[in-house]
Amino acid sequence: MSNSLRIGIAGVGTVGASLVRLVQEKHEMLTQRCGRPITVTGVNARSKNKDRGVPLDDYKWFDDPAELAKDDNIDVFVELMGGEDDPAYGAVKAALNAGKHVVTANKALLAKHGVELAELAEANGLLLNFEAAVAGGIPIIKVMRESLTANTVSRVSGIMNGTCNYILTRMEEDGLTFEECLKDAQELGFAEADPTFDIEGNDTLHKLALLASLSFGTKVAQDAIYLEGITKITLEDIEAAKDLGFRIKLLGIAARTPDGVESRVHPAMVPLGSPIAEIGGVTNAVIVETDTLGSIMMSGPGAGGDATASAAAGDLCDIAKSKPGHQHGPVLGQPAATLIPHERAPMRSHAGGYFIRLTVIDKPGTMAAIATRMAEQEISLESIVQRRGKVDTSNEQAPIILITHETTEQAIKTALEAVKADGPLIGDAQMIRIEKLG
Ligand code: HSE
Repeated sequence: MSNSLRIGIAGVGTVGASLVRLVQEKHEMLTQRCGRPITVTGVNARSKNKDRGVPLDDYKWFDDPAELAKDDNIDVFVELMGGEDDPAYGAVKAALNAGKHVVTANKALLAKHGVELAELAEANGLLLNFEAAVAGGIPIIKVMRESLTANTVSRVSGIMNGTCNYILTRMEEDGLTFEECLKDAQELGFAEADPTFDIEGNDTLHKLALLASLSFGTKVAQDAIYLEGITKITLEDIEAAKDLGFRIKLLGIAARTPDGVESRVHPAMVPLGSPIAEIGGVTNAVIVETDTLGSIMMSGPGAGGDATASAAAGDLCDIAKSKPGHQHGPVLGQPAATLIPHERAPMRSHAGGYFIRLTVIDKPGTMAAIATRMAEQEISLESIVQRRGKVDTSNEQAPIILITHETTEQAIKTALEAVKADGPLIGDAQMIRIEKLG
């Protein structure tokens, strides 16, 4: 059919296979809604003979994604390979240089090369759509690029990694180990090819970098984001959090401050009963706070083949409906050339409450000494408890949990250094920030 939107898909893993199935099974509905058929014409993947559960025989096979990207028989290059550099980077550039629109789920690529690729797309009058790159199936990019145009964003935050949220939820609900939960997340197709990107927070960081750019009109600046993953979170932390009225979530937060943009990714204690605390399993949630609208939260499946393919299909539909020669909207919400440098506000200025878990030598005066070190930094304590539980009494160890009122990162760090110098501490202190979002 001559008026088909012809797509070439590079990367037929979990998401690619779901997209092929979606385009095949919903062909008629998509044709009606997009105004013309969406037709796969070429595919590329690492292994030609692997069974992916979807028939690929009707499509031309390409060993090289860059060749597929330039092929005369495609209008859109769909990049689902992943990876921040080549081959994805080279193939996307080849597509844009050859006049092909691009749809990508690759947040790592855009976090590193997003501004350059946006400039290239805009210079060539092409669309570079990346709904599938952030928060899986939640249509947050479209909302931020289009629906919130009249809003000035003060903060964007949320749960942006399905794998981490799944792990933390299952650890709490089923008492499973971190490793067991990660294995399940991998089997369910939520995790990145390299799951350390999920659990160390890099995946959330990539997504936050893109949301911060869209929110504040700044260049994508992944290096400006403070990063801490969930690998140091123990079942003990999760249980203590629950007892004290909190739940642990891996959050990404980017806020406009007088000193610039403060962006951070780290585990956080959120109050039980708050909307963000109720986001469980693979679900993601993004909260956008603005001057005009106030606060909105969007939630939905944040990972997995079908959820991510749903977002990519929506991007394809937008391209199918666009008119040739029509000036398309800017990739990052405003022309890439007008994005301002990202000025990083120092993390140490972060203010809020803190959860601190210390394992100390159990002897008289230890608790009082810790309280004194906190008082020296003018840290007000909401509670201080010595928890029973999985304590190695033979070594006379005691776990102590402190919840502080609002204070600064600097004060907490100075106080913990002083506690360490005093000598009662066994191992490292666990420090988790308390966040109230929305
Ligand atoms: N590995 C990612 C996640 C997939 O778990 O959220 C979506 O980017």
